[in-house]
Amino acid sequence: MDEAGSRLRRRVSVRKRDRPSPGSGLAAGSAAEPQQEREEEPGAGSRRRRTAEVQPLENGDSEEDMFGDYDSFAENSFLAQVDDVEQQYMQVSERGKRAAGLSTEGLPWESGATAVGSFAASETDEPVRNRSRREDVSAELGILDDVPSSQVLYFENARNSADDLGSQCTEERDWNASSPKTLNEELPPNSIEQHQQTGDSSSKVRSGSEENRRKSLKERLKSAMTGNARAQTPVFSRTKQLKETLLSEEISVAKKTIESSSDDLGPFYSLPSKVRDLYVQFKGIEKLYEWQHTCLTLKSVQERKNLIYSLPTSGGKTLVAEILMLQELLCRRRDVLMILPYAAIVQEKISGLSSFGIELGFFVEEYAGSKGKFPPIKRREKKSLYIATIEKGHSLVNSLIETGRIGSLGLVVVDELHMIGEGSRGAILEMTLAKILYTSKTTQIIGMSATLNNVEDLQEFLQAEYYTSQFRPVELKEYLKINDAIYEVDGKAENGMTFSRLLNCQYSDTLKKMDPDHLVALVTEVVPNYSCLVFCPTKKNCENVAEMICKFLSKEYLKHREKEKHEVIKNLKSISGGNLCPVLKRTIPFGVAYHHSGLTSDERRLLEEAYSTGALCLFTCTSTLAAGVNLPARRVILRAPYVAKEFLKRSQYKQMIGRAGRAGIDSVGESILILQEKDKQQVSELISRPLENCYSHLVQEFTKGIQTLFLSLIGLKIATSLDDICHFMGGTLFGVQQKILLKEKSLREITVEWLRYLTGKGLLQKDAVDKSKEEIEYSFHITKLGRASFKGTIDLAYCDILYRDLKKGLEGLVLESLLHLIYLTTPYDMASQCVPDWMIYFRQKVDKDIVNRLYLSFVLYTLLKETNIWSVSEKFNMPRGYIQSLLTGAASFSSCVLHFCEELEEFWVYRALLVELTKKLTYCVKAELIPLMEVTGVLEGRAKQLYNAGYKSLIHLANANPEVLIRTVDHLSRRQAKQIVSSAKMLLHEKAEALQEEVEELLRPPSDFPSVEASSTEKA
Ligand SMILES: Nc1ncnc2c1ncn2[C@@H]1O[C@H](COP(=O)(O)OP(=O)(O)OP(=O)(O)O)[C@@H](O)[C@H]1O
Ligand SMILES: [Mg+2]
Repeated sequence: MDEAGSRLRRRVSVRKRDRPSPGSGLAAGSAAEPQQEREEEPGAGSRRRRTAEVQPLENGDSEEDMFGDYDSFAENSFLAQVDDVEQQYMQVSERGKRAAGLSTEGLPWESGATAVGSFAASETDEPVRNRSRREDVSAELGILDDVPSSQVLYFENARNSADDLGSQCTEERDWNASSPKTLNEELPPNSIEQHQQTGDSSSKVRSGSEENRRKSLKERLKSAMTGNARAQTPVFSRTKQLKETLLSEEISVAKKTIESSSDDLGPFYSLPSKVRDLYVQFKGIEKLYEWQHTCLTLKSVQERKNLIYSLPTSGGKTLVAEILMLQELLCRRRDVLMILPYAAIVQEKISGLSSFGIELGFFVEEYAGSKGKFPPIKRREKKSLYIATIEKGHSLVNSLIETGRIGSLGLVVVDELHMIGEGSRGAILEMTLAKILYTSKTTQIIGMSATLNNVEDLQEFLQAEYYTSQFRPVELKEYLKINDAIYEVDGKAENGMTFSRLLNCQYSDTLKKMDPDHLVALVTEVVPNYSCLVFCPTKKNCENVAEMICKFLSKEYLKHREKEKHEVIKNLKSISGGNLCPVLKRTIPFGVAYHHSGLTSDERRLLEEAYSTGALCLFTCTSTLAAGVNLPARRVILRAPYVAKEFLKRSQYKQMIGRAGRAGIDSVGESILILQEKDKQQVSELISRPLENCYSHLVQEFTKGIQTLFLSLIGLKIATSLDDICHFMGGTLFGVQQKILLKEKSLREITVEWLRYLTGKGLLQKDAVDKSKEEIEYSFHITKLGRASFKGTIDLAYCDILYRDLKKGLEGLVLESLLHLIYLTTPYDMASQCVPDWMIYFRQKVDKDIVNRLYLSFVLYTLLKETNIWSVSEKFNMPRGYIQSLLTGAASFSSCVLHFCEELEEFWVYRALLVELTKKLTYCVKAELIPLMEVTGVLEGRAKQLYNAGYKSLIHLANANPEVLIRTVDHLSRRQAKQIVSSAKMLLHEKAEALQEEVEELLRPPSDFPSVEASSTEKA
């Protein structure tokens, strides 16, 4: 290509959607994302490692533990004592085995511990059968699953076989007719808006030659992509083509219907029947539950009123939200934002919905971690589904308000709505929703949760209707275990429980001592044929319990799916550069693993995959997993009614036990809570009392709550006068609950107080006074420092010190290495959680925060040099999961500092420097892997494997055949392969679309181009 071509190429590389790129306004997101719990040995007198002490961050764009700091529990509690015994017992063998090195040789296939609970060969492996059935169905559908509609249609046109088509279509329609036609008939008139149509009348005015020129460029791009697809996927299934044709027909009917303002847009809840097919194909969902149908056809839903709905865990809430999102994207043609609580769930959702996006023609964009563009790219035709964490969702909404585009957001869906009552993340969620309510009357809000109590407050806040049902497709039986008796939770019984059975197990004396809670007996009743989760109060406890259980499992367990488990170990090693955690090395051969935030994301993903295919059958986990990834189990065991030192909340309990018995995987589910006599009273309250109320944290969270809110209200000009700000506050959840939360002050007093504080801090300035009015009638504007803090989403607790540090840096910035710059971008809030392991620190009196931060910057500096998390983890004696969180946090904070500097003239020099540093921190891998890691779900380990297998670019991945991928890349399941290809295709589409947009823009005459008449008039 010529010069224009190279310009295009250059622009493509700058337009990377989801990785922070210098010009792309990288992640005006949360200040710091990484969190890690304190790795502290529980129990007095227990062995202590010289581990740098780390604690969880309060706030983060997290895939982190929902319940915060729970890593230690009462030192003299029963649990602590049990742990002590466990640790003493294990220390001996652990030391020996750790010394044995990291190779997979000597795995405990040969180990000979006292064995309990052997099992019969797994002929009746029901869950496994279910899983493989679904995979088989996908396999049958063949490689065409991943070819985008456009490509299939291209071939369809080329073949021009209209005759065949007619008969097939009839067949397809007949099938449609026999399926729930009634749904369609029952739909009440809906209120689809017409103003979002894609036909742009102005485009018709363009001159023919221009149109042709643009068209030919577009055609070239298109045919290049189609050509690629043809080369890779030469075989096409007839049915697939027909379905595609049918879809395009349905969409065009839908478009026509919109034009003629009719209500009936499609046979499946106003959607094309293709959507129904996709649910069967991708999720195995053939028919909606009755409540789902009722909810979708509610009058209030049809009228697009805001809605809160609440059903027990596993009730199928997601499907309803997804159908409503698809209606918004495809029928009403507006963008949609889905807010999910954790980065890991965002990624899971992106992977799951990318194939829907490709098939149905909308973009799925990730807003989590350092991914996301602010404001989002304006799309020409297709609409976007933004899937975001709470923090990134907030930044996205801010950027849409700032650019006057908030009206383009048709629907906002919030999953796990009860999180609005949880700390600073709750405050951020509340701000986001309050801003949407205040600035866009046409954006619908839908919230869902399994654990809501004071719904009225939330309804008032969101001006929402409420729908609830007690439906759960799979029965969940709740049990309690006290000593060796098992009781069933029974609301009708006097003390809330009835005796069920005695635990039938014969324990040796050693085992009794080691396993006083009978965990081994309880798990061996289900594993390995069914899966089981054991929730433990602390991370360390997870590892100990996993090892303890394996010590007492029969050797028979080693033989169960032995090859697959061997593969898991091999793959764990290969993604970790030859390293393997010694605990996992011992437990995986038995099908057992621990799961907590100390694992790297790569390890976590691999273990989760192995668990969901059944190769691993038991996870010992922290509460992270309850709200985190969707990993179901036949039996869920709660080792104690505690999360760290805290007694369980009812909502936590419900979330944890809710993992048992998931629809489509298990036919029954059961939970067993193990408790001691002393906890009996509290547990009986736990199982009978209502769920906890949700209370606003907006005012309680100063710097991350109300201060940030006021700064952004004024910075974005949402509300700038005292009256308007008070009015805004009245519409928040805090406004609704103010009389309960802070009755001694009025809302106006609180508002005045915080505005005064921010003005005093130099972040806001009062505007000229209208002398005739009282002082409180002032209006405000944001100062430069205020704007910099708000734009950089800097936690206001640190904006002063950040300014000072950067200013000081200007006096003598050391650029001989990256260390000085890294220091400046090491997150402040992580410093307080680290106790450096060096003598100077103990001997000298130094400023703890500065020294800690410096220590962390050493860690980051080493990491950038070595790009190996494991070796740095070993060198600094910090858990690898923490090192990874530190890196993510630093990348994110570095981009925040960059945005901060962009607003302040005096820091111009930092701009160029921080662009590069941010990039380095974000990727921290060899440059060649970066394009692959842009794809959702491809982390470093997987990127290396793909690269070595010859997939060197995004285009390679987008054109890959999943079946070939499975064969050439180790331990890649069909589901993962398909998700990688779908996500890559989605990303490639987005890039191509952005390029087309750019081409159009280049060729479009400027709107202020002087017309012939105008210039002749001027001359005259
Ligand atoms: N109509 C249906 N038919 C069969 N399976 C379904 C149906 N609807 C949902 N499912 C399946 O049920 C499982 C649980 O659904 P989902 O994740 O939506 O539950 P949830 O209500 O969001 O629960 P939680 O509160 O735990 O998040 C999923 O595997 C989903 O695919
Ligand atoms: Mg859910």
